[in-house]
Amino acid sequence: MYVLGVETSCDETSCSVVNNRSVLSNSIVSSLNSHKKYGGIIPEIATRSHAKFIDKVCEHALSQANIGLKDIKAIGVTFKPGLIGALVVGVNFAKALSIGLNKPFLGINHLHAHLFSPFLNNKKKFNFPFVGLVVSGGHTEIFDVKDFDKIKTLGKTRDDAAGEVFDKVARNFGLGYPGGVYIDKMYDYNLRDSFKFKCGDLGLDFSFSGIKTALIYKKIELEKKRKFNQDIKLKLISSFQESVVNTIVDNTIKAAKKVRAKSICCGGGVMANSRLRQLLTKKACEEGLNLLLPEKKFTADNAAMVAGLAFYLYNKNRKTDSLKLLVSSR
Ligand code: KG4
Ligand code: ZN
Repeated sequence: MYVLGVETSCDETSCSVVNNRSVLSNSIVSSLNSHKKYGGIIPEIATRSHAKFIDKVCEHALSQANIGLKDIKAIGVTFKPGLIGALVVGVNFAKALSIGLNKPFLGINHLHAHLFSPFLNNKKKFNFPFVGLVVSGGHTEIFDVKDFDKIKTLGKTRDDAAGEVFDKVARNFGLGYPGGVYIDKMYDYNLRDSFKFKCGDLGLDFSFSGIKTALIYKKIELEKKRKFNQDIKLKLISSFQESVVNTIVDNTIKAAKKVRAKSICCGGGVMANSRLRQLLTKKACEEGLNLLLPEKKFTADNAAMVAGLAFYLYNKNRKTDSLKLLVSSR
């Protein structure tokens, strides 16, 4: 049985065909390069790019999977959260396909789809209830996952998301976009304790705007004293990343203990971060928790995770009435 997934919540236009958890195709066109000079995503550019590429991406995904539209059993599409204009393109495309082909339709929550990403292309057990961590450019959230249709938020960011703070800091340091990738590459383990930067301690919630300001003020102070050089830059960035990563890991472990979960599942663009993957693996092992990380190719936005979750929910009979489904930014 084949399920088609459609993802257009941010800057990736993606369509994917899965057969249960096997990814047969995962076609992606990203408008990332068009946003780079602005240092962040411009919604209008993203929306226009989705409108331009969605049907070609869908055709590509079907041909890569070696099937036709008639072979699709159901269609899943991200309907929230995300950029409204961007979501509308994908949702309307999927609605049209569903109505035109008379195929069942499923509206998928993008964050829940990220939580499904560790289960793609493998036979790992679901082990409910588990604690879910989504760290991306728009979200930093911890969930109690009793099943994929029983998900409750345990903690989230009160200001910037983790990816957002990486992007803002990278922009201030002139590193390039998306910032997380550059900061990840610059990080030096031996320099991680050079400066003492702390993220807010808010139970299971996060706050990253304070550390961002502290780091930028420190940089300005060092620049004034003519002490800001490449060596100091590495020390500042390494100390900053270490603190952000430690906070994400500590809160996730705390959440698992609080709800007595035995497993942790993670997703989102920031999960590509090498230090985060390493520290989470170490701490989960020390606490006797089972950790499920997505393959790096499934950390950033993709339709395979949407299709995979749609397949799962279809089997639970969780279809959506296509004409009634509205997109939502949150
Ligand atoms: O999940 P994603 O592709 O899009 C959203 O739904 O937001 O995440 C994009 C975010 C960006 O903020 C980017 O800086 C961050 O993921 N990111 C990373 C890494 N690769 C991408 N952050 C830290 N380390 C990385 N290696
Ligand atoms: Zn995402």
